[in-house]
Amino acid sequence: MARKKISVIGAGNVGATLAQRLAEKELGNVVVLDIPITEGMPAGKGLDILQSGPIYGYDSQVKGTIDYSDTANSDVVVITAGIPRKPGMSRDDLLNTNAAIVKAVTEQVARTSPNAILIVVSNPLDAMCYVALKVSGFPKHRVIGMAGVLDSARMATFIAEAAQVSVEDVQTMVLGGHGDTMVPIIRYCTIAGVPIAEILKKEQMDAIVKRTAEGGAEIVKLLKTGSAFYAPSASVGAMVEAILKDKKRILPCAVFLQGEYGIKDLFVGVPVKLGERGIEQIIQLNLTVEERIALQKSADSVKELTEILRRQQVVS
Ligand code: NAI
Ligand code: 2OP
Repeated sequence: MARKKISVIGAGNVGATLAQRLAEKELGNVVVLDIPITEGMPAGKGLDILQSGPIYGYDSQVKGTIDYSDTANSDVVVITAGIPRKPGMSRDDLLNTNAAIVKAVTEQVARTSPNAILIVVSNPLDAMCYVALKVSGFPKHRVIGMAGVLDSARMATFIAEAAQVSVEDVQTMVLGGHGDTMVPIIRYCTIAGVPIAEILKKEQMDAIVKRTAEGGAEIVKLLKTGSAFYAPSASVGAMVEAILKDKKRILPCAVFLQGEYGIKDLFVGVPVKLGERGIEQIIQLNLTVEERIALQKSADSVKELTEILRRQQVVS
């Protein structure tokens, strides 16, 4: 069977770590691309990851490049190109810089890999997904944003810590935009199938919800330069695996909603079925009125950013 091809655009912290994770899981051959100003950097990182193969026992080819022709006909393309935030900045502060970068990258990707499934990582995530969808002209099931998997993993980490149980037995679900208004759905959080409300106290859960929503900022504050990349790259890796192995996993992802959850023409995080065709189904949860209001509030903040891009005619 021919190996799948995965391209990662942006060979920075998230991109290079992701390339390593994809190779280690032998999900396909990996190409990692960065801009000419960093000539040599992507090639060096690609070669370095390739040379880990004999030790870890993988045969995936890994190549770093500045040339889009090397990424041609990829099955999956992950866009991590852009700037990360600095302490004190919100993800939204990255809007204009990253919109221009994601637009330029998407134009190249759509030309060279017209049948690829796109996974967007660059922030502000939901608005960048919108840019990728509009610029690529790809159908909506082939443009997916990574955020919910990461936010849910953070929440699962905090719950496992508080309950003193294995992370493997914790299930969480974080919906909404990837920002301060994200919506952790406590009713869907369980430990080995037992609702979390039966295990943790309300004050404990309130603290976990707050820490989850501020999870990205907590790491930015600690790192001082740049933002999280180990858990983010692991999250993208899970999404790539679900797609390339056609696992039909149910994961929270940013998707273009057209009426689902009462939200229209916006990327917002909701649970989806991920398989070889990309988004194979949008799962409609029965939300309470309170949860629905919180999701709508989160969608409104995504809308604000999307409207700015439309007004500036970055996208139509
Ligand atoms: P980084 O600064 O380490 O890497 C970004 C890379 O993109 C750099 O190597 C840069 O040269 C490259 N780049 C810039 N313009 C480019 C272009 N036109 N073509 C190709 N490459 C280009 O940043 P990091 O930590 O890897 O984060 C990347 C982005 O992902 C940021 O916007 C960050 O906010 C976002 N992010 C999103 C997450 C999410 O949950 N959705 C999680 C973590 C990061
Ligand atoms: C995070 O949540 C930077 O959005 C990224 O860590």
